[in-house]
Amino acid sequence: MSILVTGGCGFIGSHACVVLLDAGYDVVVLDNLCNSTREVVERVAQICGRAPIFVEGDIRDAILLESLFSEYEISAVMHFAGLKAVGESVAQPEKYYDNNVGGSRVLFAEMQAAEVKTLVFSSSATVYGDPASVPIAEDFPRSATNPYGDTKLQVEDILEGLYQQDSGWCIARLRYFNPVGAHTSGLIGEDPDGIPNNLMPFISQTAAGIRPVLSIFGGDYDTPDGTGVRDYIHVVDLVAGHLAALEYLDKNQQLLTVNLGTGQGVSVLEMVHAYERANQCNVPYQIVNRRPGDIAECWADTRLANQILGWQAIRTLDDMCRDTWRWQQSRKSK
Ligand code: NAD
Ligand code: UFG
Repeated sequence: MSILVTGGCGFIGSHACVVLLDAGYDVVVLDNLCNSTREVVERVAQICGRAPIFVEGDIRDAILLESLFSEYEISAVMHFAGLKAVGESVAQPEKYYDNNVGGSRVLFAEMQAAEVKTLVFSSSATVYGDPASVPIAEDFPRSATNPYGDTKLQVEDILEGLYQQDSGWCIARLRYFNPVGAHTSGLIGEDPDGIPNNLMPFISQTAAGIRPVLSIFGGDYDTPDGTGVRDYIHVVDLVAGHLAALEYLDKNQQLLTVNLGTGQGVSVLEMVHAYERANQCNVPYQIVNRRPGDIAECWADTRLANQILGWQAIRTLDDMCRDTWRWQQSRKSK
């Protein structure tokens, strides 16, 4: 039996391939390479000693999906394929609704037709909007502050509808906090095109001298040091949470909604200093205006994941910084 990993060449999907292959699953990757390269498949094979099957294609292609489900014995799907740049989603909302919502609809319809009803979906802490308090539990109200976030809300709702219509579905909606880090091999990691939107790749590129200075968006938040606080989670811990969810769904038919975070808030300044300490490097920074749409603080209540999945994040901030730097250094030598 194989697991279909949509978006398996991307940052999180590639790490999921590693954890699945290491756990003994066969893996079929479907990726249209709009934000990744096929070289990732070879790198995953280098890490695991065996390769996933790679199919270049789009989740919106119903005919391709139909043929995939008939050709391979797929028992479950991990669905990572999607566009994720918040700013771009504001500029081009239709592109996001078409890809993330439209694509998911096609995928779920083809799963239903093929009687493949086990799904792990990449949702996001963005569905909590601007939360009234922290830590954030799964039953907090949901809201969207941008089209990207709205696509996550919509797909969560579609999945709820599917489960209500047919309780044969086994679905995990995993709400990620801030995934960072890279595989310890330095072979796979996050490889943003152009200027990074997210903090960790920006810090890395600044430390590497690719960017002259990190702009810290806001030094006047109501947080201990005035900078934004987030729950950064190592991507290898994150994908371990996916494996735990898959194994849970194997025994329990249900619709599960779980936060994947560490439960610890870390400020931007703390992250910069942790990075400098862990890697003996220098990250020049300047404090600038707040970034529109940002919230002050966001971290997870992780009790449900601990209780239900028996999972918790174990990697430290130091691990996140060291592994990201190793990956960054390997990009330089490419
Ligand atoms: P990524 O861009 O690195 O990976 C996504 C992959 O999906 C890419 O390889 C891309 O080529 C592929 N893809 C996109 N649209 C596709 C389509 N229509 N058909 C086939 N392939 C397609 O992103 P990531 O960071 O690995 O994120 C994976 C998922 O997790 C996304 O759904 C994202 O929204 C979600 N998520 C990410 C974060 C984060 O901070 N990285 C946080 C919360 C949720
Ligand atoms: N930040 C900077 N400078 C930068 C980039 C970020 O100061 O160059 C700050 C932000 O203001 C924020 C923190 O670093 O305080 C983290 O910012 P990121 O852009 O790395 O992450 P966000 O929390 O803003 O957003 C991430 C994902 C979204 C997702 C959200 C909630 O990028 O897709 O987490 O899960 F919706």
